[in-house]
Amino acid sequence: MPSDHQTDDLSFDEIDELISPRAEETDFDQVVETALSRRGFLGGVMTFGLGSFLVGTTALTRDAVAEGDRFGFTQVAANTEDTITVPDGFEWDQVVTWGDPLFSDAPAFDEATRGTAASQARAFGDNNDGMSIFTKDGRTVMAINNEYTNRKILWGNNPDGKWVSDDDVQKGMNAHGVSVFEVARDESGNWQVVVDSDLNRRITPQTDMDLTGPAAGHALLKTDADPTGTTTKGTWNNCGNGETPWGTYLTCEENFNGYFSAEDEAHEVSAELKRYGVSSKDWGYGWAKVEARFDVSKNPNEPNRAGYVVEIDPFDPTSTPKKRTALGRFKHENAAVVLAPNGKAVVYLGDDERGEFLYKFVSHGTYSATGDNSDLLESGDLFVAKFFDDMRGEWLALTPDTTGMSDAEIRIHTRLAASKVGATTMDRPEWVAVNPTKAEAYVALTNNKNRGKKPNAGGDDTSANGPNPRVENHYGQIARWMPDNEDHSANGFSWNLFALAGNPDVHDDAYAGSENINAGNMFNSPDGMAFDSTGLLWIQTDGKYSNEGDFAGMGNNQMLAGDTVTGEIRRFLVGPKECEVTGVCWSPDRRTMFVGIQHPGEKGNSHFPDGGTSVPRSGVFAVRRTDGGLIG
Ligand code: FEO
Ligand code: CA
Ligand code: CA
Repeated sequence: MPSDHQTDDLSFDEIDELISPRAEETDFDQVVETALSRRGFLGGVMTFGLGSFLVGTTALTRDAVAEGDRFGFTQVAANTEDTITVPDGFEWDQVVTWGDPLFSDAPAFDEATRGTAASQARAFGDNNDGMSIFTKDGRTVMAINNEYTNRKILWGNNPDGKWVSDDDVQKGMNAHGVSVFEVARDESGNWQVVVDSDLNRRITPQTDMDLTGPAAGHALLKTDADPTGTTTKGTWNNCGNGETPWGTYLTCEENFNGYFSAEDEAHEVSAELKRYGVSSKDWGYGWAKVEARFDVSKNPNEPNRAGYVVEIDPFDPTSTPKKRTALGRFKHENAAVVLAPNGKAVVYLGDDERGEFLYKFVSHGTYSATGDNSDLLESGDLFVAKFFDDMRGEWLALTPDTTGMSDAEIRIHTRLAASKVGATTMDRPEWVAVNPTKAEAYVALTNNKNRGKKPNAGGDDTSANGPNPRVENHYGQIARWMPDNEDHSANGFSWNLFALAGNPDVHDDAYAGSENINAGNMFNSPDGMAFDSTGLLWIQTDGKYSNEGDFAGMGNNQMLAGDTVTGEIRRFLVGPKECEVTGVCWSPDRRTMFVGIQHPGEKGNSHFPDGGTSVPRSGVFAVRRTDGGLIG
């Protein structure tokens, strides 16, 4: 990090890596190093052989992947163009981009100033991520996370792309959160924002929220501003999402830690805050400079009030969003909700950090199609995944008995609880997707350069293991599990790997990837993931786009589709330069697929979507078949 308090053009993850306090290199690292070199690079999976983890896809060969029509499209080639590429027979157009007004009292996006705090509070936020679509009484509403800001672009009107005034900082703050707005088709059938709809709403770090569930009111959540520990202000770094069968939106707080700092950068934060990467150093957002609640030396409990899943009613702009502490506190990626046969709501949850864990929540109450489900996420049991090398797994309960912590502490210091029960350290769990046609779930394990090299921030062993079989994993993989008795609330499951991303042109070992990865479809760093109604798995990437070396032939970040029965994976879409493709949902008639493009030009080399010398902007894009047919 630069010595001043301002930003540079590192990606969010790179900054986190640089600034987050990490476990010191200890003798432990040497022990792991030695163990790995003795057992070979596959570490713990040597006993069974990597192939046995790839059940269901081993019948495929690299050059003999079936060309069936399950996908309904022809694969697009990798490329490095500054546009969206879709297959022949498909088209795309723009729905909404950063800075577009949701209300007519906000001005149109202004390239010269990039807006103000006031205009940004009434306009679509920056760096959109997870999104859902809801319908009710003939109206259609989109709820979309605005994860963080491209600071060099947001403040690109200032010298060196740094904030100068308090208004700059507040503009950045207001570019975070969630955008909720009505959409409707125009005369040409394209989906557009309904500006000034009474359903439109911006949720920002300033929006009043309730803290609910087992941790509400606990001493660790109390601050001077909220001595009850039950109300809080705002949400930020909202990454993936979820939606409930009862029609609410779930937004997931991920790298919440990066917004806290202290006036005195030498201030020591607690070990518990360190586990979450909270530090006294400013990442460049400047929030603590304008609001004392973000100064961790003055308000050490404030970071305990972030890192949750927040439930929002998308059809009531006056409703108070609820932070659901029952679902635990960590760097939440998304929240994949499924009803178990017994009616309990099961929510799968990933914690996206190197060597952190995969979780499951099972509600105490049961869903009622005609009743009130508004408190279903209020109480329930929390579990963490343990994978065994015999292809079995178990959800370990996080309880006062198993952890020695109180129930409230488990929901606040969830990472510490999971370490205590010996959960399996994972390669950065990103999105979980539940197959609507079969009792199985998938998790994108995006990459983990520390696998087999250093422990996680809690000191847990990160030797290669079953679902995370490669040390220094730069490519990522997708694991899946099948719950016992086809019941997502069951404690036992079987698992295997759906795909190991890799580069078969560069490597001939496990880094070539699994057999369903070939020169035509290779990619790295799977991240966003969702099933469509037909059971096709859509995979979005947030990886290296250098198109060189280990990543040669992969091009820009992209979206692919996977047939979970045959294992075939086909590239559907390539994003513009330096973007991440993240967030996907479908129109109610399934004839439009909405795809999110985040941080195009994060290193300064894109003018997407407007071209020329325009400011690059994140946005949501609608993809359709030119024949108007079904898509997903
Ligand atoms: Fe915001 Fe883990 O991605
Ligand atoms: Ca992500
Ligand atoms: Ca990612």
